[in-house]
Amino acid sequence: MGDLPGVTSRLKYLKELGVDAVWLSPFYRSPQADAGYDVSDYRDVDPSFGTLTDFDEMLSTAHALGLRIIVDLVPNHTSDEHAWFIEAKAAAPGSAARERYIFRDGKGEDGELPPNNWQSIFGGNAWTRLVEADGSGGQWYLHLFDTKQPDLNWQNPEVRAEMESVIRFWLDRGVDGFRVDVAHGMIKAEGLPDWDGVASMVEGEHSEEEAAKERAMNPPSPFFDQEGVHEIYRAWNKVLKEYEGDRMLVAEAWVEPAERLVRYIRPDEMQQAFNFEFLLAGWDAERMTTAIDNSLAAVEEVGAPSTWVMSNHDTVRHTSRYGLSVPTSFPTGISQSDEQPDEALGLSRGRAAAAIMLALPGSAYIYQGDELGLPEHTTLASEFRQDPAFARTKGAETGRDGCRVPLPWFGQEASYGFSHGSVSPGQPWLPQPESFARYAADLQNGDAASTLELYRDALALRQEHRLGDGAVGWSALHDPAAGVLAFANNGVLVVTNFGDQPVRLPDGLLEELTVKLRSQPTALADTGESTAPACASELAPNSTIWLA
Ligand code: NOJ
Repeated sequence: MGDLPGVTSRLKYLKELGVDAVWLSPFYRSPQADAGYDVSDYRDVDPSFGTLTDFDEMLSTAHALGLRIIVDLVPNHTSDEHAWFIEAKAAAPGSAARERYIFRDGKGEDGELPPNNWQSIFGGNAWTRLVEADGSGGQWYLHLFDTKQPDLNWQNPEVRAEMESVIRFWLDRGVDGFRVDVAHGMIKAEGLPDWDGVASMVEGEHSEEEAAKERAMNPPSPFFDQEGVHEIYRAWNKVLKEYEGDRMLVAEAWVEPAERLVRYIRPDEMQQAFNFEFLLAGWDAERMTTAIDNSLAAVEEVGAPSTWVMSNHDTVRHTSRYGLSVPTSFPTGISQSDEQPDEALGLSRGRAAAAIMLALPGSAYIYQGDELGLPEHTTLASEFRQDPAFARTKGAETGRDGCRVPLPWFGQEASYGFSHGSVSPGQPWLPQPESFARYAADLQNGDAASTLELYRDALALRQEHRLGDGAVGWSALHDPAAGVLAFANNGVLVVTNFGDQPVRLPDGLLEELTVKLRSQPTALADTGESTAPACASELAPNSTIWLA
């Protein structure tokens, strides 16, 4: 599975990569119905990942290396195997135990119909009916996600107090912050009104224009981005302030447009929110320009830093998305019967895009394996799929397993070294494709042309030039309609060619400025038309350079 001692053993690798902090997805006790986003005990480590002692060891090793640790907090729902839900099932309708969740009587003569028409984000009904001890149908409970993830009732003060106590538990242990899962979902509209819209976790299957049209046509969802959520974050902000140091909250909130999203990072709420507009822009100079402009303008309103991310555990890896015939498309997964991405093209674009992201002000989030240029596993056999969305949609949604396949550490070892050093190395929890041998970290280490060394160089330069604290100034070279993105940040000029033809750079540019980074060794070429002393150069297709 990969466990906490394993994380500890790789912290040095992350330090050498050049990151400042690590966000860990949930490692709490859980039946693993949704990769740990179904927590049965918020104050313990799942035995498959280790113990609380292993956690403390991991945290102190990270801190000794100067790395911060951010843990995942899952406040919208618990596991159905959480003590509270077990108690609620056994308790009577209307009891205090049931009031911690969202239980309702069904509609119809015998309550045989769900209380409203909400659909689960993973597909199917968002309500499940309890079966009473005598076999008769009981009340229904709400689960925006899987049936094994009952939603908590955030109108209940007991729920708020409990989650604050969970936050304190981990702050007391020394964590630096929390990534807040479904941060836009905890409060549901009064009366749980029917809603005919379709919500997806990853709101990206459409273009910005379509999204705007949809927003105009659909009344806002009664379970996402309700005003009431902000009160919760104001309370948590106060809790964090009681602690020493620089603790933070980052929202996972699929909220559009950027002006709505930044309401989560007003000065008395969270510190950061994932900026999914950048992730959804795909490989397209105009869309990326808009995402950068929108994001920077919106955060300025609230005085928070922007964030940037291209992939995570819920999305198809960007290297594979960028290799599709439509490099702005956003599939929910890729299977054997779907179009297969052009791996080499996707990788060049992925590297060029990373060189954009890592030059932007604010915080950049790298998903594990991005730094190796890992592609999605696009031919994973159905029998291995574990994402509840795959099962609940009967395969209509391929699901997220393809981006979660364990990393290749050593190209020549069994499981590419994923279970290196474990007592019984065996099959990893998701099988790795053969192509992973080419991406193994040990092969890339020290190879100046590798993706790993590109990330290391970019992160070191980011630090040296304090790009995180800088600002974007579009350069005279910036011409998104022609597929050229160019900006300066703290004295570093970043130029990307999104097209499939070389772009000629202004004569003399390379005499004036030094090349600090190229997204691939062949990013720059002499046009052969040089007239000394100025040489004429061009930027290769799907490439980024940094000059200073
Ligand atoms: C968002 C998480 O990133 C995702 O992996 C999970 O399935 C849902 N929230 C439900 O917790």
